[in-house]
Amino acid sequence: MSKLKLAVMISGRGSNLQALIDACAPPGFPAEIILVLSNRPGAKGLDRATEAGIPTKVIDHKNFTDRAAFDAEMTAAMEGAGTDLVCLAGFMRLLSDEFVDHWRDRMINIHPSLLPAFKGLDVQERVLERGARFAGCTVHYVRKEMDTGPIIVQAVVPVLADDTPDDLAARILVREHEIYPLAVRLIAEGRVSIDEKDRAVIAGAVSSEKSVVNPVG
Ligand code: GAR
Repeated sequence: MSKLKLAVMISGRGSNLQALIDACAPPGFPAEIILVLSNRPGAKGLDRATEAGIPTKVIDHKNFTDRAAFDAEMTAAMEGAGTDLVCLAGFMRLLSDEFVDHWRDRMINIHPSLLPAFKGLDVQERVLERGARFAGCTVHYVRKEMDTGPIIVQAVVPVLADDTPDDLAARILVREHEIYPLAVRLIAEGRVSIDEKDRAVIAGAVSSEKSVVNPVG
């Protein structure tokens, strides 16, 4: 069976890209990365892609005066490569409505919170400010409003009493690296559909009824 062709869009470190590269390595995985695209020339993730033998392309947003032209160039590169699914992995630019429309139900994002809570930037600072007891991460399809769209997979982590934003972000990142490959696999296996309320439905999902409490006593 032919594999789902992924284009991964990054702006920086690329640790989620690395998780996807590692997940795609076994021959039996149903997806492959065909292109890594960065809006920043120095993004560390570009080295990870090159190391793995994956083609890269830099489209520097600084060379564009309007967002539409920048987005059109990215779409052209990804369509040209035969992309089935766009994976935003720490891509830190807002996307035009046209871009989001073009890739509707063919573009997913990872965000370091339990959406729909804590959209946007500086998430972990705000989680700690609000005294939330749990935090987490979400993989979702992308819709026009920032950090919205059908939720595919989430993971929860506890917030501990002495956490700094960096501590919490690091605890969440470990789970990001689990759920991004999982979401890609579910999509590649054809198990994800969107219902009439714009929610993602997972065929044959295995879930647990176990709930968790924090603090424990
Ligand atoms: C990740 O924590 C990802 O969830 C976040 O940026 C980080 C990128 O790290 N994305 C967002 O905040 C998007 N709103 P990485 O480059 O090591 O994958």
